[in-house]
Amino acid sequence: MKTKKITKAIFPVAGLGTRFLPATKSIPKEIMTLVDRPLIQYAIDEARAAGIKEFIFVTSRGKSALEDYFDYAPELESELRKKGKTDLLDILKDTNMDSGAIAYVRQNRPMGLGHAVWCARRLIGNEPFAVLLPDDVIAAERPCLQQMIEMYAETGGCMVAAMEVPMSKTSSYGILDIAEDQGSIVRVKGMVEKPAAGEAPSNLAVIGRYILTPKVLSNLNRMKQGAGGEIQLTDAIAEEADGKSGVFGLRFRGQRYDCGSKIGFLQATVAFGLSRPDLGGEFETFLHELMAMQKAAQ
Ligand code: G1P
Repeated sequence: MKTKKITKAIFPVAGLGTRFLPATKSIPKEIMTLVDRPLIQYAIDEARAAGIKEFIFVTSRGKSALEDYFDYAPELESELRKKGKTDLLDILKDTNMDSGAIAYVRQNRPMGLGHAVWCARRLIGNEPFAVLLPDDVIAAERPCLQQMIEMYAETGGCMVAAMEVPMSKTSSYGILDIAEDQGSIVRVKGMVEKPAAGEAPSNLAVIGRYILTPKVLSNLNRMKQGAGGEIQLTDAIAEEADGKSGVFGLRFRGQRYDCGSKIGFLQATVAFGLSRPDLGGEFETFLHELMAMQKAAQ
């Protein structure tokens, strides 16, 4: 199938991050660090690896630290250069975005994920695009968005990342109503945002990676309120399920961490710490000792 190349991605980062108060009183949630890199860096790296060239952030008040993070830091960089710290300069390279590669739009009222994505409509125009929710950190051999873009080249239409969750947890996710299950890929006939456990059409949940057609943006123009009184991206995508090109869910290969929750953030911190060649060994020894001490104290 001939599909248009995906080069633009939207990163909705306007949320208040109240689950991480008091930390988020003065720093955006997306700047909180997993080991030594802010959450947002993981999403940016994943997007870059999948061929994204234009990065659109939907922000709100109090997020200026994010804009600074992706800018050049002339004083810091010249200081490091003077001292010959090329390794640190290399680390900073990943944070620098070329002029024009990054754009910010403001969501002036918290009206939901669908509304946040809609705020970027003029920067997207008439082409398919990706959406990445930085709260969902996905450790994978092949980056999740890349897996999706490869599959999208075969299916066209809209595509969401999908993962089985316990039935008791469906009320935390967008849930897929499956028309045809082909294993790694499913064709979707509907989607429900955060259904109660007994009302969910399946336990296949949407994880925060999307490839969307511009049609979804025109669906969002109609701005219908959905679950929780918010304008839901899930509803605007679901409208495409009956359309010509359809909606698909990809059971991606990888481990997803819900860094929008404290426990998920802790789990990700441990997993990423353990997988780091420079830290993993010492950290593992520490964790073993800590567990042994806790057992002994019981
Ligand atoms: C959002 C989406 C939901 C999706 C989830 C994945 O919900 O609305 O459909 O399943 O992200 O993390 P949120 O977690 O922002 O409430």
